[in-house]
Amino acid sequence: MTGARPRVDGPAKVTGAARYAAEWRAADLRHAALVTSPVPAATITAVDTSAAERVPGVVAVFTHHNAPRLRPPVGAPYGGRLPLQDNRVHYEGEPVAVVVAERLEQAREAVGLVRLDYAPLSAETDFRAVADTAVPTPPARWGPADTTVGDLAAGIAEADVVLRAEYSTAARHHSPIETSATQAEWRDGVLTLRDATQGVFNVHAVVSSALDLPADRVRVLAEYTGGGFGSKGYVWPHQVIAAMLARELGGALRLVLTRAQSFTSHGYQPPTRQRLVLAATAEGRFTAIRHDSLSPTSTYGEYVEMTANGSRVAYACPAITTTHRVAPVATVLPTPMRAPHEGPGMFALEVAVDEVACELGIDPLELRLRNHAEVDPTSGKPFSTKGLLACYAEGARRFGWADRPRATGSLREGDQLIGWGMATAVMATMRFPAAARARLHADGRVVVEAGCQEIGTGTYTIMPQLAAEVLGCPPEQVVLRLGDTALPRTGMTAGSSTTLSVGSAVTAAAEALAARLALLATGDPTAAVRLDGIELTVKNGAVEVFRLDELFARLGVDSVAAGGSWEPRENQRSMHTFGAVFAEVAVDVDLPVPRVRRLVAVYSAGRIVNPLTARGQMTGGLVWGIGQALLEKSTTDHRLGRFVDKNLAGYRLPVNADVPDLDVAFVEEYDPHASGIGARGIGELGSVGVAPAIANAVHHATGKRVRSLPIALEDLL
Ligand code: MOS
Repeated sequence: MTGARPRVDGPAKVTGAARYAAEWRAADLRHAALVTSPVPAATITAVDTSAAERVPGVVAVFTHHNAPRLRPPVGAPYGGRLPLQDNRVHYEGEPVAVVVAERLEQAREAVGLVRLDYAPLSAETDFRAVADTAVPTPPARWGPADTTVGDLAAGIAEADVVLRAEYSTAARHHSPIETSATQAEWRDGVLTLRDATQGVFNVHAVVSSALDLPADRVRVLAEYTGGGFGSKGYVWPHQVIAAMLARELGGALRLVLTRAQSFTSHGYQPPTRQRLVLAATAEGRFTAIRHDSLSPTSTYGEYVEMTANGSRVAYACPAITTTHRVAPVATVLPTPMRAPHEGPGMFALEVAVDEVACELGIDPLELRLRNHAEVDPTSGKPFSTKGLLACYAEGARRFGWADRPRATGSLREGDQLIGWGMATAVMATMRFPAAARARLHADGRVVVEAGCQEIGTGTYTIMPQLAAEVLGCPPEQVVLRLGDTALPRTGMTAGSSTTLSVGSAVTAAAEALAARLALLATGDPTAAVRLDGIELTVKNGAVEVFRLDELFARLGVDSVAAGGSWEPRENQRSMHTFGAVFAEVAVDVDLPVPRVRRLVAVYSAGRIVNPLTARGQMTGGLVWGIGQALLEKSTTDHRLGRFVDKNLAGYRLPVNADVPDLDVAFVEEYDPHASGIGARGIGELGSVGVAPAIANAVHHATGKRVRSLPIALEDLL
């Protein structure tokens, strides 16, 4: 049965037995190191690699002069320009040369000796400065750029209160513990990549097409990925470089991004500027919502942070207009980062709702209840399942919200101003087709195979639980093999989609295996089977017990396998996850550093397969939300066109001292529409709604309304 199972990969990870991409050894392993552009836009006018080539151990130095030619990659999102193909630079940090050496130290030394002359070109890195170049975007994978329902002007005209405000969120970087890394081996005409990725099939598609290799000559493996948060979802130049140079030189080659390079060699969460109009009647009924979003993209490609997506569905309202515009700047392409879209977007909407509540003198939770959406207000579709009202009620109960005094600054403890705030969390449910295979061996072992990834969310733990539930055996009897393009195909591990998508396929495979066992044992595939160790109990009228070794010997087989798959079909429902987040902050009256004292969050996300890993996901999300609210910000020096703090000292992340007691709960729920197992997605939902709950609590404590993240001490002086 499913339940609170601890992470099965935990011991391997903490003892170092888990091997990551950059930890695979090969006798002929060489090391690659990137030379990156120090300027955001330029033409490279001269190249001198002679000094670098003289460093002992250096095997080769590649620039656009001598790098192998590549084809434009197809089949999966690629976030870079094709590396080393021309003399142009489009962002600071773009790879412009690569050194390959016998040892990493030699490669790093030679990197400093590569001489490149740049003729700088004018470059803008501030998206606000080029706002007038912003363009509507074509329908992206996350929905249309613009939507309109109802009559906005009429809704504003009939309102008693109209809030017009601008909100902004900062550029942020993913900073997983494992920086991106690729180990590429070219042997006998076959390219094998061990990659730190959230999508082995993405890497496979990009690399095989860029290198013009037949699909069956490329294999991508990722047994463990040390965090991703979106940074390893798209494919980036370093993966193509490692693959291209392994083929060029033969043998094995390792390329690991430095921490500084992880701020420029893959995407980041773009900063956003969001303009909100929120109109309401005196009774607190919303009559119009307008949400206009602006964010940067790169000069060479398009990524749209869909911050207004949440405003399309969050509240019942007769008139909702949303727009998204992107302005090109000279940076690497922005990319999804944990809770993309709704993460930055619900900050604006949920602070706006709090502002209107204050203006109307209505309790912020009560205002949300009065505008609760029973159906998706933009599409008109019913929600698959939605337990948000229960989230509000349970969250308020756990938090003690009923005792909240209305007036700001009224909850004082000595020198500490205490504030209580709350916000709604909404996140679109992403789903991908998936396939899986389940094989039962004569000794009772069940091996489930699916080519997905374990990025630290519990995939290795949960999938065996789901298969075991079908087969009736303990989860310890089942192991999952994953992270391999030779295994059944799945989507990438992103968009909180893995449990619902791959889990549905694993369940289907286990059901197919059960039917096959029933057929083999009794001739009737519909007979009920239950596996326990090497005992197979089959109930078909009478109950029969088989020993697997005897049954398989009689059948003349070593093992029995079956496949299953799942793909999203239902589209008559609006599929979202929901939550209610409550925050208590304390702000010192003299030195107003905002501190989070407690968070309570209750979620509606369909069936929860494993409450332990689910809680881990949500508490992780809450910590992300604390970072978004109070700490995380990548500052760009627009004169130099570069991020300033490319390290984990300058880029501030929450540490244990920043994280208070976190109280997480889920509403009991089964979603029959979203997946084959009743689940929607959970992980990213945890980072939605936290920052606005904290910002609203800061307002309640201090009376200061901060519309820009992160909230800094100087905002509260
Ligand atoms: Mo997530 S930003 O979809 O890894």
